[in-house]
Amino acid sequence: AVERTLSILKPDAVGKNAIGQIIARIESAGLQVVAARMTHLTQGEAEGFYAVHSERPFFGDLVKFMISGPVMVMVLEGENAVATYRDVMGATDPKKATAGTIRADFADSIDENAAHGSDSLDNAKNEIAYFFRATEICPRTR
Ligand code: CMP
Repeated sequence: AVERTLSILKPDAVGKNAIGQIIARIESAGLQVVAARMTHLTQGEAEGFYAVHSERPFFGDLVKFMISGPVMVMVLEGENAVATYRDVMGATDPKKATAGTIRADFADSIDENAAHGSDSLDNAKNEIAYFFRATEICPRTR
């Protein structure tokens, strides 16, 4: 089924000037960018977005990293978009990511891992709503 998922290109990827290369991979995988903007997250926004991880030991470092520079938030649409984008990103830990994936090629560590993608369709709906109003999402047809 056609799905939508939320992508964040993290401060490390943006800092490497790799936005275009990463979007090229997303598009090559058959996904369409239907919403996008640059933003520099506040601490409150980053904490809210990652609230599910608030009890994890890495939460503080994760928030600090996510507010260390600008990010690009995007909504991706396509067949099986949640799983397709996770395949394009590769494993959370770039050391475990398959060659040719975004994280294998652009990420330096599990903490600075270039990209975020929703891990389920339910979470995708919540994460998209966290960053985008319905009117900001621009599918090719409606
Ligand atoms: P992301 O998909 O953005 O979701 C939470 C982030 O926490 C994850 O990518 C990693 O960058 C970071 N993180 C750091 N340590 C871990 C860990 N042990 N397990 C999962 N995520 C981690």
